[in-house]
Amino acid sequence: MALWHFSLLFLFSCSLGVQSARFTLQNNCQNTIWAGTLSGSGKPFLMNGGLELNSNEGVPVDAPAAWSGRFWGRTKCTFDASGKGSCATGDCGGVLQCNGAGGAPPVSLAEFTLDSPVDFYDVSLVDGYNLPISITPSVNNCIEVKCTSGLNQICPKELQLESNGVVIGCKSACLAFNKPEYCCSGEYNNPNICKPTNYSQVFKTACPKAYSYPYDDATSTFTCKGADYTITFC
Ligand SMILES: *[C@@H]1O[C@H](CO)[C@@H](O)[C@H](O)[C@H]1NC(C)=O
Repeated sequence: MALWHFSLLFLFSCSLGVQSARFTLQNNCQNTIWAGTLSGSGKPFLMNGGLELNSNEGVPVDAPAAWSGRFWGRTKCTFDASGKGSCATGDCGGVLQCNGAGGAPPVSLAEFTLDSPVDFYDVSLVDGYNLPISITPSVNNCIEVKCTSGLNQICPKELQLESNGVVIGCKSACLAFNKPEYCCSGEYNNPNICKPTNYSQVFKTACPKAYSYPYDDATSTFTCKGADYTITFC
C-alpha cells in the first residue's frame, strides 16, 4: 500500500515537473523525403531512426523527457522491401531506419536538447546544407528558426554537391577543404581563434539564425520551455 502510494506520487510529480515533447515532422517539399533522426548518447531512438514522408505529409513523433538528438531530411532515396538502399543526400549507411547512424553531409540539421532544464534547439549548417528546414515551437514567444532560402541555388561552385548537373547540396568549407580554420580543429579549436570565413558568411547571410560554423553559438542557439516543435522541410 505504502509502496503503491509512493509510486503514484512519483508518477504524478514526474508529470508535473518534467515535460516530454511532441515533434511533428512536416514535409512541405514537392517530392517525397525520408526523415532521419539520431539520438544523443544514451537517449532512446525515435521512429527507429527514420521514416518516409510524402509531400505535404506531417507525422507526429513523441520524445520522452530530457531527450536529445537531431533530425534531418534525406532526398532521392530508393529502398527495397527490407529497407536497404541509398539516398542522394543525408544517407545514413544505406538503410531506411537509421538506428544510430548519422546523415552523410552535406545535410541541414534540426538539433534539440530537451529539459536541460529548458529546451535548447538550433538549425545547424555546420555539416552543410541539403534542404530548407525550420523549427517552429508551439509556444508563442519562443523563436522560430527558419532556413528556407534556397542555399543550393547560391552555393559557391567549390562547395556544390551535384547530381546530373543539378546542385543537390552545399558543402561546408570544412567538408570541402578539410582545413583547421574552416573546421575549428587543431590550433583553431577555440572560439576566440576560429572566426567566420567568407564561406561561412554565405550560409549566415542566407540563414541568419542557423549555425554557419562550429562556434556560431551566440546567434544560433535558442531556448524554450514546455513546447512542442514542428520541424518543416522546405
Ligand atoms: C574565399 O576566400 C578564398 C581565399 O581566401 C578565395 O579563394 C575564395 O574564392 C573565396 N570564396 C568566396 C565564396 O568568397
